[in-house]
Amino acid sequence: MALSAFPLFFSLLHIALLSTLCFAGDPTVYSDLRFSYITVSPLGVPQRVIAINGKFPGPVLNVTTNNNVIVNVKNDLDENLLVTWSGVQMRRNSWQDGVLGTNCPIPSKWNWTYQFQVKDQIGSFFYFPSLGLQRASGGFGPIIINNREIIPIPFAQPDGDIIILIGDWFTQNHSALRATLDAGKDLGMPDGVLINGKGPYRYNNTLVSDGIDYETITVDPGKTYRLRVHNVGTSTSLNFRIQNHNLLLAETEGRYTIQSNYTQFDIHVGQSYSFLVTMDQNASSDYYIVASARFVNESLWQRVTGVAVLHYSNSKGPATGPLPDPPNDFYDKEASMNQARSVRQNASASGARPNPQGSFHYGNINITDTYVLKVLPPETINGKVRATVNGISFLKPKIPFRLADKHKLRGIYKLDFPSKPMNRPPVMDRSLINATYRGFMEIILQNNDTTIQSFHLDGYSFFVVGMAYGDWSENSRGSYNKWDGLSRCTIQVFPGGWTAILISLDNTGVWNLRSENLDRWYLGQETYLRIVNPEENGETEMAEPDNVLYCGPLHSLQKEQIHSGVGTFGVSLKIYTLLLALFSAMLI
Ligand SMILES: *[C@@H]1O[C@H](CO)[C@@H](O)[C@H](O)[C@H]1NC(C)=O
Ligand SMILES: *[C@@H]1O[C@H](CO)[C@@H](O)[C@H](O)[C@H]1NC(C)=O
Ligand SMILES: *[C@@H]1O[C@H](CO)[C@@H](O)[C@H](O)[C@H]1NC(C)=O
Ligand SMILES: *[C@@H]1O[C@H](CO)[C@@H](O)[C@H](O)[C@H]1NC(C)=O
Ligand SMILES: *[C@@H]1O[C@H](CO)[C@@H](O)[C@H](O)[C@H]1NC(C)=O
Ligand SMILES: *[C@@H]1O[C@H](CO)[C@@H](O)[C@H](O)[C@H]1NC(C)=O
Ligand SMILES: *[C@@H]1O[C@H](CO)[C@@H](O)[C@H](O)[C@H]1NC(C)=O
Ligand SMILES: *[C@@H]1O[C@H](CO)[C@@H](O)[C@H](O)[C@H]1NC(C)=O
Ligand SMILES: *[C@@H]1O[C@H](CO)[C@@H](O)[C@H](O)[C@H]1NC(C)=O
Ligand SMILES: *[C@@H]1O[C@H](CO)[C@@H](O)[C@H](O)[C@H]1NC(C)=O
Ligand SMILES: *[C@@H]1O[C@H](CO)[C@@H](O)[C@H](O)[C@H]1NC(C)=O
Repeated sequence: MALSAFPLFFSLLHIALLSTLCFAGDPTVYSDLRFSYITVSPLGVPQRVIAINGKFPGPVLNVTTNNNVIVNVKNDLDENLLVTWSGVQMRRNSWQDGVLGTNCPIPSKWNWTYQFQVKDQIGSFFYFPSLGLQRASGGFGPIIINNREIIPIPFAQPDGDIIILIGDWFTQNHSALRATLDAGKDLGMPDGVLINGKGPYRYNNTLVSDGIDYETITVDPGKTYRLRVHNVGTSTSLNFRIQNHNLLLAETEGRYTIQSNYTQFDIHVGQSYSFLVTMDQNASSDYYIVASARFVNESLWQRVTGVAVLHYSNSKGPATGPLPDPPNDFYDKEASMNQARSVRQNASASGARPNPQGSFHYGNINITDTYVLKVLPPETINGKVRATVNGISFLKPKIPFRLADKHKLRGIYKLDFPSKPMNRPPVMDRSLINATYRGFMEIILQNNDTTIQSFHLDGYSFFVVGMAYGDWSENSRGSYNKWDGLSRCTIQVFPGGWTAILISLDNTGVWNLRSENLDRWYLGQETYLRIVNPEENGETEMAEPDNVLYCGPLHSLQKEQIHSGVGTFGVSLKIYTLLLALFSAMLI
């Protein structure tokens, strides 16, 4: 089944209900998302995965620029939950960002309603549970932010929208993987790659066992579809390709790109891309859709390959033969980086606003602060294996930082994150970047680890201006792309290399900057940017929401939530008891 026919659980679309909680004039979209475990066997082994409204992966959050979004999240897991809407900028409103530095966790059996606006944004993103490796067990789903009708998209309206979630997958669940990391071990090789929550098509009887359910995407010949491809995995970069079909790259996390064809494309953990794919092949057979592990020894990682089927509606038979070749460049460090450098924004296209994307001339703005953030392979700190940024392994917040500020709590965090690698032993700490409101920050991500890392910044879209091997130096600025670099929220940093990004610090709040590779994030490879208007007049940053949760030092302020039983989302305890009584009566 193609994901375009994905059942929509966003039952109610209320237009312009002007409540005091909403932003006047813009339509409001409501949805209910219930997170619970279900048992499935994507790789042939039964396992409990995190489903949303009973589905794995979760339903699409399909909205339009400036919509107000109200999502009531119910936690039917056996542990805390927070959902982060990765890529949604939450303007002036880090209260809804869904990471531990911005929100208290939603306890098991509780629900919490997120409320935010997708202000001045378009593009393809995804949401996921942000705590303790939960994403390795699922709980993810796609986000689409459509252009407003008055703003044309820079290509012909595609004949359909197809969502493809790819990611490495372990048959062990997130708590078992946590135990592995806590024991100081590496997660090791994943057990496979899933495509839309399903295992590989049996393209080879030796490598793929019988009886595995695989994804089939059905298309009509001659039509052009927009494929939104997301790497929702744990830590593996994937190469995406479709047998005999070109991928015309069109969008990268909210920016329209110069459209150019690729036969295969590297998608790193946490990244999202849109490709326009024309069904221009004959229907003599179906075709393979492949997502295979990148920068690994192919002969050892053969089983870590996702395979789905592209099925023409008039197809005459199954896909056969070998998979389309992966890039053959195990020893060529430059190929993947060159591919990344080849992607440019289309400066004349309009996105969320009528004016062209390229009208913000980021290359002409003077840099106000530079941070060189260096990551090393995990190392032992106080007897624990931890990962660091500039020698600091971030301790999980016990209370959201802005909530601590509002309540004038002291000693919760430090604002002394070093702006360059420090020549001192690594420490565990809660140190934030003191970022200047309305500043223009340059961040150099220097990867001295042995594996490729993706970095993600919440609350922002940043300009990617440079990427190279070796150590960054001030002279490296000479190589920056100051004109048509992409603006996005998740970027790869090659081992032994650096990536430079520029950020216009116009969004107040505290915003998580993290490794998107779940193992490194779990081990402490993150920090936050704290951006506060020194002349705050109540307008540059929103106040905490009415339903704000309290935890840690403020837990005594939190009222108990009276919740309903499992699976009776939205039904009050009273009604539930009544129903139970009726049901028991019927059984007698
Ligand atoms: C999203 O909603 C738009 C209408 O607003 C619809 O045209 C489109 O097909 C939807 N996409 C998906 C993937 O559901
Ligand atoms: C995760 O796996 C462990 C065994 O490895 C098991 O004890 C635990 O119950 C599982 N958790 C869930 C939520 O299925
Ligand atoms: C299946 O994979 C195995 C292991 O790589 C290989 O030896 C064999 O030739 C493949 N079979 C086919 C039919 O391609
Ligand atoms: C991309 O490839 C398709 C064929 O699949 C072709 O029709 C199209 O012209 C190409 N576009 C560009 C910009 O190269
Ligand atoms: C269809 O494509 C296959 C594989 O590319 C080729 O062998 C075959 O000759 C083609 N058939 C027609 C009718 O073009
Ligand atoms: C890949 O692994 C195989 C099997 O262990 C080994 O023989 C081969 O040398 C490895 N290739 C590379 C490029 O390291
Ligand atoms: C750039 O966007 C414009 C719309 O403003 C579109 O007409 C043009 O085809 C796009 N160019 C490329 C190379 O993608
Ligand atoms: C940027 O800095 C230069 C001096 O280094 C100065 O001449 C110029 O006016 C500044 N530009 C802006 C926009 O502030
Ligand atoms: C944070 O930076 C601002 C300037 O942007 C400065 O006034 C303030 O003292 C700094 N705070 C700390 C704790 O360093
Ligand atoms: C890490 O840094 C050291 C010192 O700068 C350098 O010698 C080494 O090659 C680097 N390793 C990687 C993988 O970047
Ligand atoms: C929990 O859900 C109920 C409706 O099912 C809603 O009225 C209530 O506001 C929600 N609680 C929070 C804290 O969002």
